[in-house]
Amino acid sequence: MTVSEALQRASLLLREAGLREPRREAAALLCAALHKPPAWVYAHGEETLDPAAAALFFAWTERRRRREPYAYLTGEREFMGLPFAVTPAVLIPRPETEVLVTVAAGILQNHPAPHILDVGTGSGVIACVLALQLPAARVCAVDISREALLVAARNAARHGVAERIRFLQGDLYAPVAGEQFSAVVSNPPYIPAGEIGTLEPDVRDYEPRAALDGGPDGLHFYRRLTAELPKLGCRPQLLCLEVGFGQAEAVAEMCRACGFARVDIYPDLAGIPRVVAACCDESFSGQCKPEGKKKRHAD
Ligand SMILES: C[S@@+](CC[C@H](N)C(=O)[O-])C[C@H]1O[C@@H](n2cnc3c(N)ncnc32)[C@H](O)[C@@H]1O
Repeated sequence: MTVSEALQRASLLLREAGLREPRREAAALLCAALHKPPAWVYAHGEETLDPAAAALFFAWTERRRRREPYAYLTGEREFMGLPFAVTPAVLIPRPETEVLVTVAAGILQNHPAPHILDVGTGSGVIACVLALQLPAARVCAVDISREALLVAARNAARHGVAERIRFLQGDLYAPVAGEQFSAVVSNPPYIPAGEIGTLEPDVRDYEPRAALDGGPDGLHFYRRLTAELPKLGCRPQLLCLEVGFGQAEAVAEMCRACGFARVDIYPDLAGIPRVVAACCDESFSGQCKPEGKKKRHAD
């Protein structure tokens, strides 16, 4: 079988299964199975496919027909231009989370040696990229899931930051009670429980429920992340949170209610308010300059 015949057959199978971009998805899977760059298949249609690569490609096509996410098939997802391992134990990192990392890194860039807590680290993308972008930072990455922490630790080793990241299993602040941090960052589960059944099957049936379920109104973890701050040794100078659609104002209010002097909201590339950054004092927040997009909220 040639490359173009394989591509055609897989595209048809994916189209029948109702996928929106069957040819693009088939091409991406074939390139991944062959370890070739994304456009390779289009220039090599007449080449005969290696039988082992063909077997892997059609096995992946079959799993994709059942809506298993591409990233779980290949075991990889790019985040901020870097490759990260992913398994079904972790949420597949989303581009929106790059906003959280950019905002937090911007605010902390002049801090001489920030100590950062990443709550709900999952694959560890936030912890790893902050450690890479802030070479003087020490990071503590917490997750309730032991399997997720194993993936995060693999990613930290892969990117050469394992020595500056501690991985701890437990519930929110419990594993670090009494410790002091300059910043707390988190992309917590934030889908309202009743909406999980309405999500795309790729998400609903495959991504870990513990990474999605934000309680009845989606705000359960924000209430806890703000109300339980006194469990830490001191109030962090920065609390930086990714939020879901329509949640920014409620989360900003929770931050104000627990005493942060300044609360800013940053949009994602689609213009949706996506990150709430709460700072203890004006001078600290003044170091943040993410390209003039932020909206200032007066207290
Ligand atoms: C939305 S995912 C975010 C993963 C990763 N930080 C990212 O941005 O791609 C939320 C993570 O929080 C973890 N989690 C859920 N409940 C938790 C809890 N009570 N304490 C600590 N982590 C929790 C989940 O296991 C999951 O890895």
